[in-house]
Amino acid sequence: MMVPETLAQRLVERPRRWLVTGAAGFIGSNLVEALLGTGQEVVGLDNYATGHRANVDAAAGSSPAFRMIEGDICDRDACAEAVAGCDVVLHQAALGSVPRSIAEPLASHDSNVTGFLNMLEAARQADVGRFVYAASSSTYGDYEELPKVEENIGNPLSPYAATKLIDEIYAAVYGRSYGFKATGLRYFNVFGPRQDPEGAYAAVIPKWVAAMLRDEPVTINGDGETSRDFCYVANALQANILAALAPDAVQGEVFNVAYGGRTSLNQLFAFIREGLAEHQVHYGREPIHADFRAGDVRHSQADIGKAKRMLGYARPMTWRKDWRKRCLIMSRRFATDRSLGRCRADALPCIPASRRRLQPGAAGSAATGQEPGRGYARDMAGAAQPRTGGIRLAAARLGPGARGAGEKVCP
Ligand SMILES: NC(=O)c1ccc[n+]([C@@H]2O[C@H](COP(=O)([O-])OP(=O)(O)OC[C@H]3O[C@@H](n4cnc5c(N)ncnc54)[C@H](O)[C@@H]3O)[C@@H](O)[C@H]2O)c1
Repeated sequence: MMVPETLAQRLVERPRRWLVTGAAGFIGSNLVEALLGTGQEVVGLDNYATGHRANVDAAAGSSPAFRMIEGDICDRDACAEAVAGCDVVLHQAALGSVPRSIAEPLASHDSNVTGFLNMLEAARQADVGRFVYAASSSTYGDYEELPKVEENIGNPLSPYAATKLIDEIYAAVYGRSYGFKATGLRYFNVFGPRQDPEGAYAAVIPKWVAAMLRDEPVTINGDGETSRDFCYVANALQANILAALAPDAVQGEVFNVAYGGRTSLNQLFAFIREGLAEHQVHYGREPIHADFRAGDVRHSQADIGKAKRMLGYARPMTWRKDWRKRCLIMSRRFATDRSLGRCRADALPCIPASRRRLQPGAAGSAATGQEPGRGYARDMAGAAQPRTGGIRLAAARLGPGARGAGEKVCP
């Protein structure tokens, strides 16, 4: 999935063994899929706290190049087992969400700080070549100047932000104390396939798309002028792989990973509505405005210059395409989601027929159901047999035992 072809080619030429923690989650499962799609060996680690087995199935299918470990990063033995023999760790496991951390600060601390340190130490002990971890834009806290530049951060505004800042501090200390360099990627509002739309802590895009598809009310916290730098998941995949392949001199840095633009919640609402309308789903309600949410920063926009200069990071998609793609993917996904009611692969079944206004000439789309049905089946098959930048690979040629014990590939 969505790794630039030149990057995919570099992976193909030199396969490695990767550990992806949080592999059952949104970003983690997309990483697993992308890596398997370029012939890598992948180990996944997750305790399914917020991740789903279905994500792992969709990302890895029955690939013999993949091994899933159900385990908790708070368990040091599980961390040691997972890193054994790996060349690279992409550490994604954490409890996300600012409101969750305000409700349950200790749980956030356990996974995000203790679990992070366990993984860092396990990777150091195992002499892993590269450690790339999910940091967060929340680290900018109350620093107001835009766009956000890596070296200028403020005070964290939530326990979640504090945990992510502590991770960065530990990563820097490991560099200074042990020469073990961990590279941080400060993600800004990532969105894309497999992002969970359910639950109190769901991210805004999947939550709103789901609400519009179900014709339920959409709630905006505050006046809607709060803004975010929404970043398609392909950007996060690219940044992880670029960071892992980057030379030693670049390791130990922290990078913004974002689109580099800014969208208000009011604009977001309009874009999603517009995007769904392009797929014959019409949402007629206006949003409900509620109170501002505690711990939320008002505006967020990244300067992505450092990642461009030092990693070669480039935006893989235009901003408009991101929204259209998002709406289409969510529509297709919900078309087979039993939890949303009727299940038909040939249309958007959670949408009452009265709201599916078909455009003239839309034959082969929701009008007949044929193309969406086939497209979805192809997506799902594609997930098990990923296609990356036009390069289709037989991941099976790299079984977990393909390399000798203790033999590593230096990233
Ligand atoms: N999605 C975003 O916009 C965003 C923004 C900034 C930072 N991040 C960070 O990126 C990472 C991935 O986020 P995501 O959106 O994919 O979230 P996610 O909730 O979909 O994935 C996180 C995964 O980690 C797993 N996990 C949590 N605690 C664990 C533990 N103790 N042991 C093992 N597994 C555990 C969960 O089960 C889940 O599968 C997280 O570290 C998150 O803080 C995400």
